[in-house]
Amino acid sequence: MEQSPPPPGAAPDWTIPQRWSQYSTDEHAIWSRLFRRQQAQLEDRVVPAFKKGVQALALGPHGIPNFAALNERLNALTGWSVVAVPGIVPEEIFFHHLANRRFVAGRFIRTVAQLDYLEEPDVFHDVFGHVPLLADPAYARYMQAYGEAGVRARSGATLRQLARLYWYTVEFGLMRQGDQLRLFGAGIVSSNGESEYALDSAEPLRIGFDVRRTMRTDYRIDSFQNNYFVIESFEDLVRLTADADFTDLYEELARLPTIPVGVLLPTDVVFPPNRQ
Ligand code: PHE
Ligand code: FE
Repeated sequence: MEQSPPPPGAAPDWTIPQRWSQYSTDEHAIWSRLFRRQQAQLEDRVVPAFKKGVQALALGPHGIPNFAALNERLNALTGWSVVAVPGIVPEEIFFHHLANRRFVAGRFIRTVAQLDYLEEPDVFHDVFGHVPLLADPAYARYMQAYGEAGVRARSGATLRQLARLYWYTVEFGLMRQGDQLRLFGAGIVSSNGESEYALDSAEPLRIGFDVRRTMRTDYRIDSFQNNYFVIESFEDLVRLTADADFTDLYEELARLPTIPVGVLLPTDVVFPPNRQ
């Protein structure tokens, strides 16, 4: 875990202090704007556990959360905490934190010019997008188990498979709720445009979640997704991943070709967009 030296000023585990008191009024105002806009957008689009988490953690439009206060609540609920890091951290650092129920978050916030899109995850994506669900016990368990799987991963092929699983669940996952779909992926819930597109557009494929299918599917990082995968519940996701043994699966899947984005297989269960 100590192979990658942290940037100057960061601890060996790459964490840095949040320095909450140093955010400017303008920076807090950007959080408020983003929070209000997404709160309205997600009202009937996001899974109930997300809204429950927002409430339980007292997240609101009043400015960038202070991690210390946030962690008091989060820790009491599921044992998770949020730690600040300078940017993208090496894989082994990332997995190590997750395995110990620590979620790494950027501390900077996007500028007004970047309200709709930015390349690197900021504190709005990381905290608003990811943290509410960490207050849910089943989701909390999934994320820790995912980190442990990453710590155990021994090959590049395994890491690629795990990265796809993360992408299509934690970042871009959908959940079925009756005959409607709901959002839970952080990459969607923190994006105004994609939170509409993922549920309502006729363009992308919405495919019933299957570990093998998901781990074999390519993804794009430069625009809205062509595929989304639909889980039944967080408990079900835990059963299919954390409670399953992936040892043989990794080897089997490493020999199979990657499935390009936007391709439907005969075995796929397909969901229609939500009715307007
Ligand atoms: N349970 C899997 C294994 O035995 C690991 C895993 C857990 C992978 C959670 C993804 C998410 O390797
Ligand atoms: Fe993210």
